[in-house]
Amino acid sequence: MDLLKLNCHTGNFLYFKSFRIKYGSRRFLPQKFLGMKICCIGAGYVGGPTMAMIADKCEDIQVTVVDLNAERVDGWNSDDLPVFEPGLTEIVLRRRGKNLFFTTAVEDGIREADVIFISVNTPTKTSGVGAGKAADLRYVESCARQIAEVGGGDKIVVEKSTVPVRTAHSVQEILSSAENGHSYQVISNPEFLAEGTAMKDLEKPDRVLVGGTVTPEGRAAVDVIASIYAQWVPQERIIKTNLWSSELSKLTANAFLAQRVSSINSISALCEATGADVDEVSHAIGADSRIGPKFLKSSVGFGGSCFQKDILNLTYLCEHFGLPEIAEYWTKVVEMNDLQKKRFVTRMIDAMFNTVSEKKIAVLGYAFKKDTNDVRESPAIDVCRYLLDETAELRVYDPKVEPETILSTLGTKEGEDSVSICKDPYEACEGSHAIAVLTEWDEFNDLDFAKIHAQMKQPAFLFDGRNVLDLKALEEIGFRTYGIGKG
Ligand code: UDX
Ligand code: UDX
Repeated sequence: MDLLKLNCHTGNFLYFKSFRIKYGSRRFLPQKFLGMKICCIGAGYVGGPTMAMIADKCEDIQVTVVDLNAERVDGWNSDDLPVFEPGLTEIVLRRRGKNLFFTTAVEDGIREADVIFISVNTPTKTSGVGAGKAADLRYVESCARQIAEVGGGDKIVVEKSTVPVRTAHSVQEILSSAENGHSYQVISNPEFLAEGTAMKDLEKPDRVLVGGTVTPEGRAAVDVIASIYAQWVPQERIIKTNLWSSELSKLTANAFLAQRVSSINSISALCEATGADVDEVSHAIGADSRIGPKFLKSSVGFGGSCFQKDILNLTYLCEHFGLPEIAEYWTKVVEMNDLQKKRFVTRMIDAMFNTVSEKKIAVLGYAFKKDTNDVRESPAIDVCRYLLDETAELRVYDPKVEPETILSTLGTKEGEDSVSICKDPYEACEGSHAIAVLTEWDEFNDLDFAKIHAQMKQPAFLFDGRNVLDLKALEEIGFRTYGIGKG
């Protein structure tokens, strides 16, 4: 296929099918996509929803999502999608089989594509150099090698996975060293979607970031990727940068967001000691337009696949570039998060007469936040582990997380040890000494707490790790309540 002609030596124009981009004026003529083919490697939380949105907004583009995991692909081809996101199923059902496809035929997908998004996981390394901090880039590298081996024409390769700064350089090196006669442009297009609101974030993003090399070919490739998003995102929200700024912006955005949560959580400890109320403090400081109200909700701790991983990644980069003080500064954000989870459990133990041993604790919510079935780095995992170390008995309920997921993250099996999974919150609370709310699911606000209280061991304790319940009303029912940052 000779779809992408990077005509940088002989002329000023790049023809990408119907795209005609003039390097000089940076003007491009966005006409129809005329059969552009996109392949996304990785049908995960990021790849699946992002590609579904592109397919829905750009009916002229054929979008194929490939994944090594056949079970996951089968899930995407069924009515029970492997990723739960409000609004996702409707879009997938609307586009699947038309211009949206899910398959394990990775090589075919790569060969036929004009644009390839790499959206595979980049977990924190568990061994070797940088263990516990650096991102494990083996999957990104194997994607680059596979793209080079498969060939199939000139391509734009887009890093969607969050990667350390300068990863694009390695990807470019691997692609160039293939010497297969095709040319490749590597673009950084990090994802800022948050789980649970992924479809809203994709449809109306605050910004789309597209970074490329500062060469005519690089700029042209940036324009091609930007023009895909421009089908539904206003031009002023599409930010074009160089590659390294784009890669670093993703890590920095997550580090800043996590830092806000750790900052307010640090203040929650002081609130508990002084009688101040952290929600009132958040409201008061958030009213300052320079600070703003978002990401100031104190909690049992932040979780999710990105915050901790990206900060560790950032600190590793700082150390690598000889900036240990900067690394230390950001490390504190993660340490504060760990402390918050420990403080939560310590407070439970203190309140419950200095022991939770053999006491039944109803754990309400296990996902790292509401409206997702994702438990990666969920604070519930650490809280439950600490409670198990204290030989408590856990009765866990979450509306979306699979029982096997809960059990495997706790290293236990149903019926063994001290964990049982409950089908509803009432079952979890019946006969319990305490309730720990660890995810802010809306349905917890609608529970009949008078009924629950009557079925619990007395005195009945309630620890709200998300500050979502009306503690005053619960006190009136008879609960002994503890919120985060409530003196
Ligand atoms: C991932 C990264 O974790 C994140 O850093 C990045 O920003 C976006 O991609 P996510 O989509 O949540 O996020 O990951 P995950 O749900 O684990 O999906 C990755 C998928 O890639 C898995 O389905 C896995 O099977 C697939 N994969 C992985 C491949 O198809 N090929 C590989 O070589 C490796
Ligand atoms: C985050 C970023 O928001 C997103 O832009 C990026 O692409 C991926 O990482 P996500 O991890 O899905 O998204 O969830 P987010 O809403 O950011 O929440 C992360 C964690 O912080 C959750 O555990 C959440 O409960 C917690 N949190 C968030 C708080 O404890 N308080 C807050 O005020 C906000």
